Parts: sequence; C-alpha cells; structure tokens
Amino acid sequence: MSTAPPAVHVSGLHKSYGKLEVLKGVDFSVAAGSIFALLGSNGAGKTTVVRILSTLLKPDSGTAGVAGFDVLAQPERVRASISLTGQFAAVDAILTGRENLVMVARLRQVKNPGQVADDLLRRFGLTDAAGRRVATYSGGMRRRLDIAMSLIGDPPVIFLDEPTTGLDPEGRIEVWKEIQGLADSGTTVLLTTQYLEEAEKLADRIAILHQGTIIVSGTLADLRKLLPAAKAELVERQPTLEEIFLAVVKKEPS
Ligand SMILES: Nc1ncnc2c1ncn2[C@@H]1O[C@H](COP(=O)(O)OP(=O)(O)O)[C@@H](O)[C@H]1O
Ligand SMILES: [Mg+2]
Repeated sequence: MSTAPPAVHVSGLHKSYGKLEVLKGVDFSVAAGSIFALLGSNGAGKTTVVRILSTLLKPDSGTAGVAGFDVLAQPERVRASISLTGQFAAVDAILTGRENLVMVARLRQVKNPGQVADDLLRRFGLTDAAGRRVATYSGGMRRRLDIAMSLIGDPPVIFLDEPTTGLDPEGRIEVWKEIQGLADSGTTVLLTTQYLEEAEKLADRIAILHQGTIIVSGTLADLRKLLPAAKAELVERQPTLEEIFLAVVKKEPS
C-alpha cells in the first residue's frame, strides 16, 4: 500500500441549492496517479462535486482537499494544481487546433508555446489536423483537443466532467485511450460519468453518488462482491457494473 497522501480528499460535503439538498455528506478520496470514476444518474450532483473541488463553488459544510491544499483555505494553490474539462468542449471552432493550443499556452505563460502545442498535437494524434479549423473536427477530435488543452502547464490532477457524453462510440473509445494515457503518465484523473461501461473500462476505483451520498465505492472487484456471481451449469458469469448499479440504486433493469 502506498502511504502517499490522496490527490483528492472529500469529507462530509454538504451542498444545497435553495431547498434542494444535493450533497448530504459526501466522502471519498482518490489515490495519486489513479483514475477515479464518480458515477451517478443525471442530476445526482456530480458536477456540483467537481465545481466544489475546482473552487468554483463553495460547499455549505464539509472539507475538500486537492493535491494537499484545502479548497476553501488555499483556492489559488488548488487552481494551480488542477485542470477542469467540462461536458461541453471549450475549444474555439474558428481557430485551428494548433492555434487553440498556442493561445492557451500563452495565457498560462508556459515556455515555448509552439513546442508545447506540437507535442500535445502529436500525443493526441492530431498532428495531421493541426492546421484545420476546429469546426471541421469530429466530436472525438474536439474532445481530445479539449483534454490536450487542459494539460498545458502539467497539472497533477485533472477533472473530466462527463468527458464522453454526446460522443459516438468511436469518439468515446478515442477519448478513453487518452484518459488511460494520462493516468499511465502519472496524472490523477477524477472523471464523472453516467456510463457504467466507462467506469468499468477506465477506473481504478468507482464511487456511486446517489440521493446525496456515496452509496458504494471500491474497485470493480469490490463492487462485484456486492452481488453473487450468476451460476449457469458450467459457466460462472460475473455481474456487470450495470447489474450492480441497478441493484444498489434499487431500480429494475429497463
Ligand atoms: N446553480 C443551481 N441552482 C439550482 N439548482 C441547481 C444548480 N446547479 C445544479 N442544480 C441542481 O442540482 C442537482 C444536481 O446537479 P448537478 O451537480 O449538475 O448533477 P449531475 O452533474 O450529476 O447531473 C440537479 O437537480 C440540478 O438541477
Ligand atoms: Mg453534470
């Protein structure tokens, strides 16, 4: 077991919007260098958690820390340690892919913006499309460019809020490959998703946010232990994450 402090730590988080109590005591932590999936239905409060962790929103109570810094006491340090990519790509469609990257590199005042842009284009398989306006890119290419942009300045922790929502299956697979690559290079990734398959494919640990709290969390293997394997004569079939999810949130399969 690693003794490194967690890259993200959340304890007793509460948040209401007016009378709507969205987070009712959320606790989890994310090990440095791992991929953590916060899984929940639409409206479960995933974006609310991510906004609190990225200092865009204050919790009503509870604590949250990122890269060893407290979100309330040290918001600038937190912001310097993270990047946030939302569900809707922040890229400028009028500019080319390379121009988008160079612009952000200049804004973040990194050295050699052109070199940084070219390295990221190569890493994300966008070199051939570098000189084309983003308006001509596929959904998967745009999202990859968006993630590439978020890496400028090498933040140790990245938040991906529904990184593949709205993408076709091909685009989704492209983005998964890049997310896996991020974790392989040591970046801590917290992603939110409504897609069970995404959590199953990518995440080292999964937490299910439901009705304001984390109702279960652990590795996929841990979650599988919640349901007995279905036995059919000679074949033993492991429950899918979908079956586990539906069982823990107590819904009937559609
Ligand atoms: N600024 C806001 N004001 C009022 N209600 C909000 C606001 N932001 C989110 N909500 C509500 O809080 C709940 C959780 O939202 P959100 O965190 O966006 O969920 P998710 O990202 O899991 O879909 C939803 O019911 C949403 O409508
Ligand atoms: Mg959301």
